Amino acid sequence: MDTALNYNYRIVKQFAIATVVWGVIGMLVGVFIAAQLAWPAFNFDIPWLSYGRLRPLHTNAVIFAFGICGLFATSYYVVQRTCQVRLFSDKLAAFTFWGWQLVLVSAAITLPMGLTRGKEYAELEWPITLLIAVVWIAYAVVFFGTIIKRKVAHIYVANWFFGAFILAVTLLHVINGASMPASLTKSYSAYAGVQDAMIQWWYGHNAVGFILTAGYLGMVYYFIPKQAERPVYSYRLSIVHFWALIFTYMWAGPHHLHYTALPDWTQSIGMVFSLILLAPSWGGMINGVMTLSGAWHKLRSDPILKFLIVSLSFYGMSTFEGPMMSIKTVNSLSHYTDWGIAHVHGGALGWVGFITMGSLYYLLPRLSGKQAMWSTRLIDLHFWVATIGIVLYIASMWIAGVMQGLMWRAVNADGTLTYSFVESVKATYPYYVIRFTGGLLYLSGMLLMAYNTYMTVRGAKPVTARIPAVIAAHA
Ligand code: HEM
Ligand code: HEM
Repeated sequence: MDTALNYNYRIVKQFAIATVVWGVIGMLVGVFIAAQLAWPAFNFDIPWLSYGRLRPLHTNAVIFAFGICGLFATSYYVVQRTCQVRLFSDKLAAFTFWGWQLVLVSAAITLPMGLTRGKEYAELEWPITLLIAVVWIAYAVVFFGTIIKRKVAHIYVANWFFGAFILAVTLLHVINGASMPASLTKSYSAYAGVQDAMIQWWYGHNAVGFILTAGYLGMVYYFIPKQAERPVYSYRLSIVHFWALIFTYMWAGPHHLHYTALPDWTQSIGMVFSLILLAPSWGGMINGVMTLSGAWHKLRSDPILKFLIVSLSFYGMSTFEGPMMSIKTVNSLSHYTDWGIAHVHGGALGWVGFITMGSLYYLLPRLSGKQAMWSTRLIDLHFWVATIGIVLYIASMWIAGVMQGLMWRAVNADGTLTYSFVESVKATYPYYVIRFTGGLLYLSGMLLMAYNTYMTVRGAKPVTARIPAVIAAHA
């Protein structure tokens, strides 16, 4: 195979299929723990099925397996198409695939066993943390190596976002991962007390900013123009968007630690930067949505475009809600309640989930040598089932969250608490059942996608596209 003339679609296809498979697994675990919150007997008194062990399994499976496999697939595709060269190294790319699957399988085994570093979103014990670092370096070499050997002078903006995601994750992972091993399965953080908390949430918030946001903005800037067959609304705005976003995100972490032992001025800085973050976030959202100018009618008949555009509305919603929740007085109500869970899943299901699904529906037929997905009607059905699921999920958690916050702070005239904690738990029960139903619908949509994917790729050989002689700069 002439590597100078061909793209490596095989690796893209592997990661795309892995995204679908892990999506089903991660969401299944999500539905299971949602059921446990409504009906605690679902832990069957088996330690490795207990909520405390399965919750991190859910977050790791949806973020690191579903989320990051989707980012691997799309970034490998976009960097080749926009640089007009094959990936820097096929072998190294294959290593990132198998290495990353090894990380994920190790997580799926060790988390239910109760092995954890105890840091949210950075739970995996040190041997797996080291493996992540090695795979990530290989990813950076493949991605930036491809950029370096590109055939076009310009580096298309989607690559800036993917590149920032790769670099920032390296920084976050190395700094927050620093720990002292005590045995093969136990290590202790290199930091202590409030410094540890600060570093953890600098990591946690930037995981939101650079994994759950920047990487997916890379998808926005490639797949929306492609599917809408329109150029990006404002290329200049996309560059301003990029620099403003990456600069601002880095400082917002302390909003996770309001009213804690963290110095008060640090909390205020976190709040101020979170409020500023509204501007670049909405700038990016508007840029994406306006790309549809003159093509709005396509939304009527194109379910892939529906996924892509509705994802941006959820992005706009959660990046409005987040800054509001970072205001200290609002946070004093929302923190510790299910409002936070509503915010997370508005972003996770609506933004991260939908943009990934839309991008994969664009990619899968192209990787399988087909004109379109096996069934467009199933894509449409997926869209509606998932949208109703999200609405049920977030509306129930918003109501539950505000209710919990108000119940916990209600006091009688004599200064005693109006409600005991267990009364708030009892009042939340119906909302947990509604959330479970919403989650089940969202998972059903994912199963439709898995079936559609299977039918589309079945029997089809991975295609290796020839680069046409003349190709648009961001073809
Ligand atoms: C302008 C953008 C955003 C800001 C300023 C922001 C702000 C916040 C705030 C204030 C909290 C609550 C912290 C607490 O009380 O503990 C929070 C939690 C969270 N947000 Fe956002 N948010 C933004 C966008 C997003 C997006 C797009 C996502 C994507 C999924 C997201 C995911 C999360 C997650 C996962 C948490 C929960 C962290 C945890 O406690 O485990 N956020 N965010
Ligand atoms: C079928 C879909 C899903 C269901 C039913 C579901 C359910 C849940 C449940 C029950 C929790 C624990 C809430 C709590 O402790 O009170 C949770 C937490 C979480 N989920 Fe999901 N989830 C789903 C999909 C996703 C997806 C696709 C993502 C990310 C892309 C995601 C990211 C998270 C995160 C980050 C948390 C931790 C939030 C925090 O600590 O504040 N979930 N999910």
